[in-house]
This record gives sequence, structure tokens and C-alpha cells, in this order.
Amino acid sequence: MYILGINAYHGDAAAAIIRDGELIAAVEEERFNRCKHCAGFPTESVKYCLSAAGVGIEEVEHIGISRDPSANLHKKVLFAAQRAAKQFAGAGRGGGDRGKSGRGIFGQIGDRLSNSAKVRDLKEDLARVLGATKGAIKARVHNVEHHRAHLASSFYVSPFERAALLSIDGFGDFISTMWGVGEGNEIEVLGQVEYPHSTGIVYTATTQFLGFPHYGDEGKVMGLAPYGVPRYMDEFREIIRTDEGGRFRLNLDFFRHHAEGVEMSWDEGSPTIGRIFSDEYARLFGPPREKNDPLTDRERDIAASLQQRLEEVAFHLLGHLHERTGLTDLGLSGGVAYNSVMNGKILLNTPFKRVYVQPAAGDSGTALGVCYQVYNGLLKRPRSFVMEGAYTGPEFTDEEIRVELERSGLTYETYTDREVTRRAARDIADGAVMGWFQGRMEFGPRALGNRSIVVDPRRADMKEILNERIKKREPFRPFAPSILEERVGDYFEQTHPAPTMLMVYQVREERRAEIPAVTHVDGSGRLQTVSPGVNPRYYQLIADFGELTGTPVVLNTSFNENEPVVCTPRHAIDCFLKTRMDVLYLGNHAVRRAAV
Ligand SMILES: [Fe+2]
Repeated sequence: MYILGINAYHGDAAAAIIRDGELIAAVEEERFNRCKHCAGFPTESVKYCLSAAGVGIEEVEHIGISRDPSANLHKKVLFAAQRAAKQFAGAGRGGGDRGKSGRGIFGQIGDRLSNSAKVRDLKEDLARVLGATKGAIKARVHNVEHHRAHLASSFYVSPFERAALLSIDGFGDFISTMWGVGEGNEIEVLGQVEYPHSTGIVYTATTQFLGFPHYGDEGKVMGLAPYGVPRYMDEFREIIRTDEGGRFRLNLDFFRHHAEGVEMSWDEGSPTIGRIFSDEYARLFGPPREKNDPLTDRERDIAASLQQRLEEVAFHLLGHLHERTGLTDLGLSGGVAYNSVMNGKILLNTPFKRVYVQPAAGDSGTALGVCYQVYNGLLKRPRSFVMEGAYTGPEFTDEEIRVELERSGLTYETYTDREVTRRAARDIADGAVMGWFQGRMEFGPRALGNRSIVVDPRRADMKEILNERIKKREPFRPFAPSILEERVGDYFEQTHPAPTMLMVYQVREERRAEIPAVTHVDGSGRLQTVSPGVNPRYYQLIADFGELTGTPVVLNTSFNENEPVVCTPRHAIDCFLKTRMDVLYLGNHAVRRAAV
């Protein structure tokens, strides 16, 4: 039985396909159309999923989409009516420019309805992009509420038979946060926080205030936070308040989204979101930073306070969730679950003992979530699949890579399986900046050793070299380590596995000088623990590097230059040619800069 899952008309459009409960493929549309966080319809992703499964759309029995226009409808209508009444009465606060730039609540609701209409035409859209007739698509279509898809994505593919579950993000289907308990084939929702209250919105609004305007810039603020002092805690406790029952609410005076509407675009292309914070932010913090203004202590301290407040609110909620369920295993999802600093502190600050964060914890992962919500939750088929890695995207044979290298006119060497990791380890130990393109592409935002740039973490200057030659990132952003799973206790203060690079732990004090390029200013590292069962070639590379140097750690950053992570050998060769990378390994082939 084939089930196709889709995240469409929303950021990080994606598709996934499962066969009898086994995950065959999952991929984000941005990797194909090269448009970061691309919204719209995941046309190429659907085509890839079908071809990876070797089936046509007519053989798919169920199609799920992580959006349910009818979910929480009464709440949407009630909210719209209340807001409209307030607007007519002129009672909105904190919105001096409402009349000039706001779309107004009717505009917002109108946008939502037109988006909803698209959901109802899912079969038509699918037929159009696949060149099929609508009648050929026999599958039953399931609309799965956004956060239920998130919860499913963090439970049904987890190793847990029973677990507490938390999905936490901006918004989806009018909800920002949902928690519950998973057991066997059931997920019971225990609570939720509704629009307009959202931790994700606070983080995004503050990210905008700090002069980082792009969709997905929140990670930059997380990287900036350790440089600051959290001296604005009172202010952030005023902006977002905690309530009984694990809940929280925003002080809406600080926001525009609920009163005036914020322009959002979810059509083809990168999503855009208008200004969310209100003028009240300036009352607390002074004027917003413009994009190219210098960063000062004020920005660093705001970032530090925001991060600490997010953690407080999350631990408040998780404390309640533990109390309510008595469980110590946790499945975590939603865009806020990309906050790896928060994730890394969960075991230290809550009673939870094990945490599963699905690699595509954000919205792309809901494509996977709906597949399992249908298969396990709805159809009650037994759970049989645990998602340990994230390697569910396109792969290319050595022969396909060779053809691409020949076409590019590049000189290359070819090694045996055993030689290739030894040679690559030697290259990075010698100081090379290495492109490492192997096997299936990762699902989710992190490159996990198949579409990575890998360098020596012992060299303090490597961060600057990478930024100067390739990444061009803000200098305050850290680079991450990959480490052999069995050695994590030697280098980090926590040992809970982090195979998807979604946990930040403290590097042991005595090890910080050994791996300066991956130790952040506060002594932390966003590590990836690598095991031979999940990625044998990457494991071997790090093991060979460890044998050569005594350090079983490498620096791993995504294979890209201000664009989505590379997908094909062509993308990798293009990136190699336009940057100053020293060597590129594509499967068992290697191209050296000197030979170009
Ligand atoms: Fe979401």
C-alpha cells in the first residue's frame, strides 16, 4: 500500500511516500527548484517520490495533506468576528499605521479562504503537474490538521511505544502549539494554544526587530544569543506570559498579526512575512535595527533574553506535560524544535530522559507525518518503521557522477570504497576545504554527512576560511561538529544521541582548545552523533580522521553557498567551481582544485 504525503501552499513545501509503512522517500521542493524554503506546490518532490517508489499516481491508495481548512473553523470565525467588531469600533491598540499598511482582518480571512480553496483542489493540482487526468487519481484524500501531522511525525517513526508529544511553532490551522500522548497507534491531544498566541511568532517578531528579515532567519538570532547578557528578562516576561496548565499567552500590544494582519506570501517562491512586532517594541527596546546597521550589545542582549525566555516557556510547558502524562520519553516537532539550544537543555531542565526530534521537525516534516497518521493512526496498521537517519532524498550512482564529471571537463581520480575515506581524511587533516557528496540527500535543514562541506575542527582559523571562501555567513554564527557516537562522552557534557544535529551541548572544558572551530563562544557545540548503522561511510571518514589525528571529530556544514543545499552532482560541481573549495568528493571520485 502506497501513501503519499504533501506539505503544500505553505513554507518548506515537501512530499513523502511510504510503502506498507516503510519510508521510501521524503524531500523538500527547495532542493529541486533552488528557491530557499519554497512554498507553493511540491511538484518536483511528488515526481521524485513516485519515481523512487517506482509507481504511478494511479497506484497510490491514500494521499494526505498537512492542512485541514475545517479544523478549528468555529474558532476562526469567532476570532474574525471579534476582531472585526473591534476594528470597526476603532479599539485596536499598538497599530498607528493600521489604516495605511494593514490588510485588515477581512483581508486575512480572505487570504485564508483562497488558500483553503487550493487545498480542496489537491487532486486537480496533482493531475495537472503530473500530466494525468483527475479521474486517474483513485486515492482517498485526507486533510490532516497541521499540528496533528507534526505530532504524528515525531511519534509514529520514533523508537517509543509510549511518549509525551509536543509540537511548537508559528501557526498552522489556527494553532501554534499542541501537546499530547502517543501510545501504540493512538495519539491523544491533551492541550493546545490557539491563534494569536505563539512562541514562534515571538521569535520571528524579535528576529525581524533585530534586523534579520528573511524567512528562516531565527537560527541567526539563536547563534547571536550567547554573545549577549539576558538583561531584558522582565521585558520578555511582559511580552510572553506563562499560565496554568503549561499554557502561555502573548501581550498582544506588542504585535500586529492579530489586529491588523501581516502580509504573508505562500505562493511559489520563498515565503515572505511582513512586520509582526508593533511600535510597542520600540518603547521597551528603542528603534528597530535596520538590516545593515552594526550589531551592538543591545541586539546581543535582546537575543540572549529572547532565547532564555523561550526556554523558560518551553520548560514550563514540558514540566506540565510530564506531570500530566508521567512519561519520560518525548517526541518533539514544529519549527521551534529547530531551536537546538533549547532542545539540548531539555534533559537538564525537565524530567524527560529521552528526546526524539524527527530530522524535518519543521513544516516539511508534516508531509511525512500525514503518511503515518493515515497508515498507523487511521488505518491502524502496525508500527514497524523507526526513522534513525534523514537520508531519504535523491542519490546518484558512481556512473551517473562520472558522466557529469566528464561533461564538465574535469580531471578526477577514482578510489576504492576503503581508500576514499582514508584519502578524504588525509585531505582535511592537511587543511583542505572538502566538498563531501555521498548517497541519498538529507531530509530537513541539516546536512548530515551526505551533502556536507567537511573540514578540520582543530584549526581555529577554519571558521574564517569557510566564511571567506564559501559560506559568507555572519561571523557570529557557529559551525557544527560531527563526532563518532561512542566518543561523545569524551568531548561533550551530555551523551544523549543527537543523530540529526538538533541538540546543542556544552563541549567539555578540557576539550575546547582541541576543537576551536566548532566550539561556540559560550563553549557549546551543535553536534551530530554519527553511528556506523545510520551512515557507515561518514562514520568511516570520521574514524579515519580520528586515527590520523587523534580527534574523532570533524566540522560539518551544509554543502551550499547562500542557496538551498545541493541536490545533484551538477549542483555540487557548480558550487565547487564558483567557490574556493580545495577538493570535491562525489561518491568514489575526487576532483582537486589544482586540477581544474
Ligand atoms: Fe508547523
